This record gives sequence, C-alpha cells and structure tokens, in this order.
Amino acid sequence: MLNIVIFGPPGAGKGTQSKLIIDKYKLMHLSTGDILRGEMANETPLGLEAKNLIEKGELVPDDIVIGMVKNKIDNNSDHKGFIFDGFPRTNDQARALDNILEERGTSISVMISLEVEEEELIKRLLKRAEEEGRKDDNIDVIRNRIKVYNEVTSSVADYYAETGRHRPVVGTGSVEEIFDRISAVIDELENKAG
Ligand code: C5P
Ligand code: MG
Repeated sequence: MLNIVIFGPPGAGKGTQSKLIIDKYKLMHLSTGDILRGEMANETPLGLEAKNLIEKGELVPDDIVIGMVKNKIDNNSDHKGFIFDGFPRTNDQARALDNILEERGTSISVMISLEVEEEELIKRLLKRAEEEGRKDDNIDVIRNRIKVYNEVTSSVADYYAETGRHRPVVGTGSVEEIFDRISAVIDELENKAG
C-alpha cells in the first residue's frame, strides 16, 4: 500500500493537491475535515457536537477523529492506499494512526508538508470564503486556526521527521508547479519500493 499524509497549515493547499494525487496515483482521499462537514450538513449527533468547535477553529477531540479515520479505513480496505488530509493534527493522533495501520499490516510511507507563509494563507482562505462560503473561513477564526496549527499541530511534522518520513515541499507557485514537486517525492518513493 501507498499511504501518504498531506500536511500543512490551513490554506496550504492540502485539499487541492489531494484531488490531483488521488487521480494520478489512484489513492483514496481521507479528509477528516470533509467528513466532519458532511456530519454537520446531515445534523448527526457527531456533526452537532463538532459544529461549535469547528466554527471557533478549535480541534475536535482525538478519540472522535481517530474513530472516524478507523471506520473509513475499514470500509475501504480494498484500496491501493490512502491520502490523509487534515489528519493527524496532534501527536496522539499520529501515534494512533501508526498503530491502526500497523494492525492492518501497513504504514505511512511519507508525510508531504506544504510550506506557505502566513500572509499567503490568509489571502487564500479569504478568497475561499467568497467561493465556498465556509463559516470558519472568516478572519477571526482563520487567525485562531493558524494559532492552533502553530501551537499544537506543527509538531506532528517532528514526529514524522524522527522516523525519516517528513518531506517539506514549497507550497507556493501554480497548482501545477506544486503538484510536480509532490509527484517527484511520490515517484522517488515508488521507485525505491520497486
Ligand atoms: O482539515 P480542515 O481544514 O478541513 O478542517 C476544518 C476544521 O475541522 C478544523 O479547523 C477543525 O476545527 C476540524 N478538524 C479537527 N480535527 C481534524 C480535522 C479537522 O478538529 N483532524
Ligand atoms: Mg482542506
């Protein structure tokens, strides 16, 4: 299996690049943010619980998102691999993901980390607000999401770096340029695996 974590602050381009990656490499997209927004739209108990946190830019508790990920993996076990988008967001989530995959005889091959300056992130998210109308894409919530990323989530990159799986990628330029950089990382990995 080829399992990839796509990582980076809000607005780094994780969702945009995931779409291109799943097409080219035939992977399954596992976006915890998309799952949570689906639950919110359907007003499920989980969705109602998550709504308050998401609209403040806070994190949904580890056990909830870990359970969601486990379900999605087990319901799609016939796939070539997964791209994890927006997860893990804490070191405990990263450890849990390693355990879940190990129990299923597989692992995360690489974390691709999109690097984008804060000013550019805010510009992109405000533009997305106009296009998609996401409630958490307003300036106060954006600032909190970036703060949570810096304080809690960014150290997840260190967790992967410690095991030699962290690959930073410059996240600015055209969508195609960024995708070429990501493809180079994945192709190198596939060539090594043979
Ligand atoms: O990944 P995305 O940016 O779409 O996530 C949107 C929001 O969903 C986050 O700001 C956060 O409130 C919530 N979320 C979370 N834990 C995750 C993924 C998303 O709390 N693992
Ligand atoms: Mg996203």
